[in-house]
Amino acid sequence: MSNQPSRPVPLPEALASFDALWSPRIVTRVNDYDVRIAKVAGEHLWHAHDDTDEFFLVLDGELRIALREPGGERTVVLPRGAVFTVPRGTEHKPSSPGGASILMFEPTGTPTVGDRHDAVPAHVDATTGHALGT
Ligand code: NI
Repeated sequence: MSNQPSRPVPLPEALASFDALWSPRIVTRVNDYDVRIAKVAGEHLWHAHDDTDEFFLVLDGELRIALREPGGERTVVLPRGAVFTVPRGTEHKPSSPGGASILMFEPTGTPTVGDRHDAVPAHVDATTGHALGT
């Protein structure tokens, strides 16, 4: 595919085009980065991206991200409209008890489960992102 769609991508319509949870769709690219959207509910898994930060924007609902940091474990809570960047190398586990729609910005080819991770549960898609419409 070309690096970018040739027309604007309305995110509400893009989100309505798939139902799978924890299974990001790539809506456009910026240089070597993907802009991905995902629907999430329940828990993801502990994982870490050794070589990249990971940007989150909450489009709808509320996302929680548990973090394992040198000082201990904490959870950040992102309401709709909030952004947060997980630093590279930091173990994290996103979750959303009530469900959420999120946008992520990360280098093309970044696996959703990171470079180090727990066993991947059946409800989580281990992927580097899918093309929109697939
Ligand atoms: Ni991650």
